[in-house]
Amino acid sequence: MSYHKVLTSTNTSSAHLVSYGAIILPLHPKHIKSKDFTKVLSSSLGAKTAQYLSAAAKARQFKGEAGQCLAVDVSPTQSVVLAALPENFMAFDLLGFARAAAGHGFEVKATKILVDLRNAGPNEDELLADVFTAVVGAKRYQPPRYGEGANKSKPYLPKLDILQAQERTDRIKFAASRSANEAEATNLVRYLAELPPNELTCKSYVERCRELAKVRNLQFEFFNYGKLEKLGAGAFLAVAQGSSHRDAGIVALHYKPKSAQRHITFVGKGLVYDTGGVNIKTGNYMFGMHSDMTGSAVALSMILHAATEQWTESVSAYLAIADNAVSNTAYRPNEVITSLSGKTIEIVNTDAEGRMALADTLCLATKEKTDLVMDFATLTGSAVRAIGTRYCAGYSNRNNLRDLIVKSGRESGERVWSFPLDEDFGDCLKSDIADTKQCNLSGGVDHIEAAYFLKKFINHDTPWVHIDLSAAENDGGLGHVETKTTGFGIRFASRFVEKWRSL
Ligand code: BES
Ligand code: ZN
Ligand code: ZN
Repeated sequence: MSYHKVLTSTNTSSAHLVSYGAIILPLHPKHIKSKDFTKVLSSSLGAKTAQYLSAAAKARQFKGEAGQCLAVDVSPTQSVVLAALPENFMAFDLLGFARAAAGHGFEVKATKILVDLRNAGPNEDELLADVFTAVVGAKRYQPPRYGEGANKSKPYLPKLDILQAQERTDRIKFAASRSANEAEATNLVRYLAELPPNELTCKSYVERCRELAKVRNLQFEFFNYGKLEKLGAGAFLAVAQGSSHRDAGIVALHYKPKSAQRHITFVGKGLVYDTGGVNIKTGNYMFGMHSDMTGSAVALSMILHAATEQWTESVSAYLAIADNAVSNTAYRPNEVITSLSGKTIEIVNTDAEGRMALADTLCLATKEKTDLVMDFATLTGSAVRAIGTRYCAGYSNRNNLRDLIVKSGRESGERVWSFPLDEDFGDCLKSDIADTKQCNLSGGVDHIEAAYFLKKFINHDTPWVHIDLSAAENDGGLGHVETKTTGFGIRFASRFVEKWRSL
């Protein structure tokens, strides 16, 4: 059962309103500023509350400037939030607006929240249903906690009711239910990314994938160490060999609806820990590297989401699960490795392990023809330096998909900026001894070069999108998400696929 419900105005009288700890009223600034303000409020909340509210707004000098919110306690158990709609209806800003408006309800720990969308225009109400559902969904996230924090208080799990005009029901229901499913998928990414590395080992991660696959009826396949050796996945194994556990491998999940016409493949970097290997990370740079598996969590969560939403395409997800450890068996710079594709790679820096693991995983994932492959990876520090942690960096081997990347980022509120992949970016990867260098350490643009490197390992010239997850972590959260671990990727990818379908 979902945490949200869509109500139509005919089945809700003001008598029902008492059960809500918070009522959010998104209103146009022109409504707030108009002489009929009390009338507008009255149609939503009844005359008594309306009068009380408009007096409170006046007393507190609430002008209703675009984007401003005012929370008024109308009874000991109820707050009403007057939320002046922003002028700019860009998804990212709207998510932030909804987070601020709903935040007043969260502050008073309202377990039932109502958002009344009857004063918003058509289209606006759909967008608002989406963002408020996303915000409440994100708030329901339960992070992993150990020790005292684990059994402190009972979790806060707010519920959302959306009130709207009858003729808009189908559209609102669609927007809200998609958003709730995306929120659930995003929360799974956040949770997996926050798990400590002694909890999420290669072995336990693979088991979690197996369990989740079972729940959603997905086919589960595991290319374990031995299988990958037989296949000749030297690039993946070069990274994996530093760990004596031999528990690394590639998980492949498959969702197969009846009579699917097209196939979509998600791929993800799943480094359960990145020490850097023998090029060990120094200073503070290692701290936090348990979340170097975030890309795989996005790929995993996306295929689960596809099953939930009953996509008509068949979908696969390939997760490159490994541990970049330091040991006397770890791979070293100057080694030459033969990858699954047969291409040889000159190792330059063992900390560029993500592209090694992904090279073989992309190659394996595209052995069978697919119509679209999207990979997600916390691949380069250079992407963070280039674009920061509020946007992700996107790449594609197709021009039309490059445009789609930017549009989907804008419309989902998970923003992605597109970077170029022209041929000359590959010049610096030329090797004297092997088919390609792994990376180039002399002041280039490693995020672009890493993407260029990955492109070499895709079979059949498959349409491909690569997302370097620079926004996987942002201090203070991002958009509707309040934690540093943002779970970035699900809303973006879900919108991307929608747009890709109608290309
Ligand atoms: N996992 C890191 C990239 C990373 C760093 C992601 C910080 C998020 C935050 C990756 O494996 C890495 O270490 N890349 C190196 C590549 C370099 C050696 C060419 C980097 O960016 O320093
Ligand atoms: Zn690394
Ligand atoms: Zn890494």
